[in-house]
Amino acid sequence: MAKLIYSSISSLDGYVADEDGNFDWAVPEEEVHAFINDLDRPVGTYLYGRRMYETMAGWEIDPTLANQSTLMEDFAKIWQAADKTVYSKTLEAVSTTRTRIERDFDPEAVRQMKALAGRDLIVGGPDLAAQAFKAGLVDELHLFVAPTVVGGGKRSLPDNVRLKLELLDERRFGSGMVYLYYRTRRTR
Ligand SMILES: NC(=O)c1ccc[n+]([C@@H]2O[C@H](COP(=O)([O-])OP(=O)(O)OC[C@H]3O[C@@H](n4cnc5c(N)ncnc54)[C@H](OP(=O)(O)O)[C@@H]3O)[C@@H](O)[C@H]2O)c1
Repeated sequence: MAKLIYSSISSLDGYVADEDGNFDWAVPEEEVHAFINDLDRPVGTYLYGRRMYETMAGWEIDPTLANQSTLMEDFAKIWQAADKTVYSKTLEAVSTTRTRIERDFDPEAVRQMKALAGRDLIVGGPDLAAQAFKAGLVDELHLFVAPTVVGGGKRSLPDNVRLKLELLDERRFGSGMVYLYYRTRRTR
């Protein structure tokens, strides 16, 4: 059975975007980018909330991103090669290939995807991920913590979810970013 992984880059106080919607402080520098490329390389499918999808679609529709460095070109290829499911009630059409829209988040459908997938899945966008956490679908967390405190904004992890976690790995980067790799343990 494939794993569902929640992946996020947040501030030390746990926000993926600050109160103005900015997350420029979360942009990974080269060493972190190379590490993320290797983490994402084996992933077969991304499950995105519409907002996260709109940001990530740039890796296919905005060639200036991939053209910035060989690392970014590598990530663009990894991203484009994976399947994407975007959850949205408002999005009329997708702008990227290998992408389908789901109008509702159905935990049973995601359970089926995990059972049938040959490669792991990543869920991204805290609003969507909260639903996966609440349904007990998230197996692992790849959390990157940026060396900054932003004081408010969009929380990476949901309210009203309790998880026991097993730390599988950790790493510090020269930029001060820290990677925490956890496996979830069921509490109920
Ligand atoms: N830190 C970083 O590295 C980083 C990187 C990229 C982006 N960001 C930021 O991260 C934030 C994303 O946060 P988010 O939690 O608001 O967004 P999200 O989870 O990516 O997307 C939320 C949207 O997903 C759709 N959705 C969620 N649940 C659904 C359901 N059950 N059925 C159908 N559609 C559903 C809805 O779209 P509709 O409204 O279309 O129905 C909803 O508005 C943004 O602020 C973004 O700028 C941070």
